[in-house]
Formats: sequence, C-alpha cells, structure tokens
Amino acid sequence: MQIKSFEEYQKTYQYSVDYPEQFWEGIANNFQWRKKWNKVLSWNFSEPNIKWFEGAKLNITENCLDRHLAENGDKPAIIWEPNDPQKESVTLSYKILHEQVCRFGNVLKKNGVKKGDRVCIYMPMVPELAVAVLACARIGAVHSVVFGGFSAKSIADRINDAACKIVITADGAFRGSKQIQLKEVIDDALIGCPTVEKVVVLTHTRTPVSMLKGRDLWWEDEIKQVDTNCPAEEMDAEDLLFILYTSGSTGKPKGVVHTIGGYMVYAGYTFSNVFNYQPDEVFFCTADIGWITGHSYIVYGPLSQGATTLMFEGIPTYPDASRMWRVVEKHKVNILYTAPTAIRSLMSFGLEPLEGVDLSSLRVLGSVGEPINEEAWHWFNENVGKSKAPIVDTWWQTETGGIMISPIAFVTPTKPSFATLPLPGIQPILVDEQGHEIDGNGVNGNLCIKFPWPGMLRTTYGDHERCKLTYFSTYKDLYFTGDGCLRDEDGYYRITGRVDDVINVSGHRIGTAEVENAINMHAGVVESAVVGFPHEVKGQGIYAFVINPNVHNDEDLTRKDILQTVTRVIGAIAKPDKILFVSGLPKTRSGKIMRRILRKIAEGDTANLGDISTLLDPSVVEEIIERSKQ
Ligand code: WTA
Repeated sequence: MQIKSFEEYQKTYQYSVDYPEQFWEGIANNFQWRKKWNKVLSWNFSEPNIKWFEGAKLNITENCLDRHLAENGDKPAIIWEPNDPQKESVTLSYKILHEQVCRFGNVLKKNGVKKGDRVCIYMPMVPELAVAVLACARIGAVHSVVFGGFSAKSIADRINDAACKIVITADGAFRGSKQIQLKEVIDDALIGCPTVEKVVVLTHTRTPVSMLKGRDLWWEDEIKQVDTNCPAEEMDAEDLLFILYTSGSTGKPKGVVHTIGGYMVYAGYTFSNVFNYQPDEVFFCTADIGWITGHSYIVYGPLSQGATTLMFEGIPTYPDASRMWRVVEKHKVNILYTAPTAIRSLMSFGLEPLEGVDLSSLRVLGSVGEPINEEAWHWFNENVGKSKAPIVDTWWQTETGGIMISPIAFVTPTKPSFATLPLPGIQPILVDEQGHEIDGNGVNGNLCIKFPWPGMLRTTYGDHERCKLTYFSTYKDLYFTGDGCLRDEDGYYRITGRVDDVINVSGHRIGTAEVENAINMHAGVVESAVVGFPHEVKGQGIYAFVINPNVHNDEDLTRKDILQTVTRVIGAIAKPDKILFVSGLPKTRSGKIMRRILRKIAEGDTANLGDISTLLDPSVVEEIIERSKQ
C-alpha cells in the first residue's frame, strides 16, 4: 500500500480520481474480511447517503489483533508511558492485548451489552482505555469516548444523546501534577442519565470513590470472572463503529458517526502511507484517545497495520519541559505525531530541555489539529528533526476519519505551514461564497470535498437532518469542511483556519455558541458574544464580551465566577482567556451580533473596523474599544 516516490504518488492520485472504486477496492484487499463486498460504493451528497463496501462482513479487531498473532504475537502492540517518569512503563504484546480485549469483551457481554448498544468511555490515557475501545468493537458495541477534561454536564448530554447503556471509567486520572476525579464526575453526570445500567471502574489513582450497589463494578473484579475466549462478532461494513462528539458553529456538540469497513480502510491506509511506517518502528502520537486523532492514529490506524503504538499518560511539560523528548529517547521513538500548540509551548522553554537528549531515533515528524506557523515549523524541523526528518503537516477533521491533505513522508516535497497535497482518493475544491468552484492556482476559497472517501462520517447520531444541514447544504453536492484555504502557485494547499464560528484552542475544537450558552447560564449575565483571537501558544484563545449589569466593584470575582460556570457546564478546556464586561453588543437592526467587529477588537485591530453604519447603535463600538484598551 505504501507509495515510494513522488511520481508514483502523481500516478496513483490520478488513478484514484479516474477510477475511485477500483482504487479503494485495491486498498481494501489489504485487509481481512469475512466476506467481501457486493458493491464498493453507492452515494449521493444530497441526502446524504454514503455506503462503502456494502455487503462486506468483518470485525475490525480481527484486523487490529487476530491477524497479527501468528507472525507478530510477541511484537509490542502498545507501549505505555505513565505520567510519573519514576513509574514503570508497560508493554502489551499483540498476544496480550488480544487476550485482554477478549476478556473485557466478555465482561461487557456479562453485563448485558449487546451488538449495537452504545458504551460511554471516560478514562485516563492508560492501556485499559484502548482495551475498552477494542472490546466494544470486538462484540459489536458502539463506543463513545469522552475526553477526560469534559464536565459532568457535558458527559451527561453525550450519554443521553446516544442512550448509552454502560459507562467505563476509572477512579481518577493523573495529568502532570494534577489529579482528576473521574468517577466523581461520572457520579454527578449519572444523576441525569436514566439509560445507564452499569458502571465499570478501573483502579488507577487509588483515590477513594463511592461505589453504588447494583450499578458500579470494579474492572479488576469483573475480569476475574470471565475467560479469554471471545469470538469476534461478525459485523456489516456499514455497521456503526463509534460516535465521537465534536463542536460545530451552532448549538450543542453533535455525535459524528463512523462505520466499520470504510473507517478501517481509511485509517489504516493513511497511517501506513503518510508516516511511511516501517515494521519494528515505534509510533508516538501525543493526542488523547478522547479525540479523533487518538482514535485513528493511536488505536485503529497503527494496530490495523501491526505497528507499535506508544500511549503517553502525561503532558509534555511534566515534570519539566524535557519530558516529551525524554519519552522519545527512552522508547526510541521513530515517528512523532504532535500538535503545533505543544511545539509552541515547548519552544518557549528554549533549547536547554533538548540538551543531552538523544533524538536520533526520529525519522518522521507530524503535526495536526491547527495551522502550524512557520516559526514553529522551522523550530520543530531544525531542533527536533535535525533537518533530516520530514514534517507531515496533516489536515483533517473528526468528520473525515483520517488524514486528507498532507505530505507523504519521503515522497511529497514539504513547504513550511502547508498541508501540501491531497492524499490519493481525496478530491478537494475551493469555492467562493456562492459555491462556485475557484479554478487555477494562487487562489483562496472555502475548502470543500467533491467525492466521497471511505473514512467520511455517515451521519450525526440521532439527527441525520443535522448532518445534511451542517455539511452538505452550504454548497450543493459538496462536503463543506468549515475551513478556509489557500492554493498557491504550485497547487499546494494551506489551511488558513475556520471560516465558521468554531475556534481552535490548543487544537481543540470549541463552538463559540457553546461557550456563550455556558456564560449565559451565569446569574446576572444578560448576554454574551464569544470570538477567537490569536494566541501565542494556543493558536487561538477565547475572548468573551459579556453584558452583566450587576458587576459593580468586584469585576475580578465575577470573572472568576463566570470561569467557574463555564468549567461546570462544558469543562476547563472552554474557559475564556479574556472576559470583557460591556454594556451592549454591536448588533444589526435585525438583532444579529456583528462578530466581525468583535473579532477585530479582540485582535486589537481597531483601525479597520469597516462599515459600522448598519449597526443599531454604533456608539457601543466606541465603548467596547475603550474598555478593551483598559
Ligand atoms: C483544524 C482534528 C490547519 C481545521 C484532526 C479543522 C488544521 C479542524 C489542521 C478539525 C492542519 C486540523 N492545518 N488546520 N494540519 N488539522 N486543523 O475535528 O480547522 O478536532 O477543521 O480534528 O482542525 O479539528 P478536529
């Protein structure tokens, strides 16, 4: 499956556009199917209705585990590096991982989980998280992993949206010097979740937890009561594999749905190609499994290719800023896949943390989640890759399932801050506001995709209309990404950032409407408007303009109260970086907030506000500018 030269890439790309079905059929033949498909693809983007490998039968865990056992049973599948560097790391061979997945699959079955049931997973970055995910897939249950930084309310919303039957969690999580009481958060969440029958709790931090009789079970007790014989459930290619919630420009997060066959092929193909993974290499993706990057490039992509994947529980700056480099050195990591925000944060510590650390094992570097600025690109290239390791700047989304536009390591000539060219099978186009295709090079537009690919989302859980409205209605017969994009003179793509009301904070997607709703829940707040602004480390920060007439002398305390409210409602990741109290917001006569103006003010660019004459009350702008400078 691996492309070896740029010429081969060009040929393959052309073939994939001319004969998409034959192309993907050829790729799919590299995987293990119980029964092959009747039809490679049927689709329309108007409903939308997308089906890949219809009629095929498989189980993704047979591809990720069983098929490697005969030859690579003793090869490390997962290497786990704990938060505390003094603690022992753990290695699970394919054989052991298979055994654990089977065992836990039986635990789920014993507790009433059946094919098609939804399972919520809220766990620290420990090997058991991967085991839980794969155990769901083994028995045909649908996992919905929720990132450990979300609040009880966010979890409850997600559990209820998917009507989850069971929750898998741990007593707590370590994150740098902090501890997160996961079980306590789950207890709060479950007050409002009638569908949940059982909670399986892994012992990790050994913090005291309440265990409710009849509902809560210890992981360690449960696995003792089952054996390791758990035949993989035979699934249809288009059966659900998982739901992953992500933020959009309106309302509450939506459950992006991925199905088994297409997602597997796409995650596996992109993993193998983009990173040029070689047998016996160690692949380290620093994301959390709570995000799509972790799903596709810690779990499914690498394991489907029989790779060794490194899971890191901690953070790059704990106990100090050399930690990530020490992890690379300790485990002789060959491929390091991380986020620009992590690079920028480590850059700020200078070169000292890198001194004396042996990074010579590194062969390929990767970046994901947000645009990488040139400065960070060069720093990463020179100081980490020693100008020898290609950087793959991979553009993709929760909805796309896998990498879409990216260099292929050792194949595509790179260019700082460019995601470069589409992978085979991906047909991007740029359109103007009216949806007309913008041809040629040296142009800017909104990024759309005009042909299906196997890893794309199929629906948003429980609300197909929302999927259609969000992604397939802005422009007819196109999938709209929500991103703006430049195609330069060489035909290279550079993602310029979201063109909708989604902001990208430290590579985490946050909807401005969500943050506004959370702020507005605070007593006293009349209204608020949230925009993104450039942030040196996070990429974008969150700027909130808040009308709260009750703020008298104690603005600081009110600010803290609002932060606390946002933490309660969404989670700490959505806390605004700046809160500005104002007496009014710039609105049009029809009552719409003109965010364009607020964005300019947040950026500190108040000289070019553009036309403000259509505002109901242009004087509020003066006031806001004045306050923002104080
Ligand atoms: C942004 C993460 C520039 C983009 C895999 C996209 C990027 C959103 C890049 C999806 C990149 C992701 N360059 N921007 N290489 N990768 N983005 O769903 O705005 O968490 O729409 O998926 O991140 O974020 P998500």
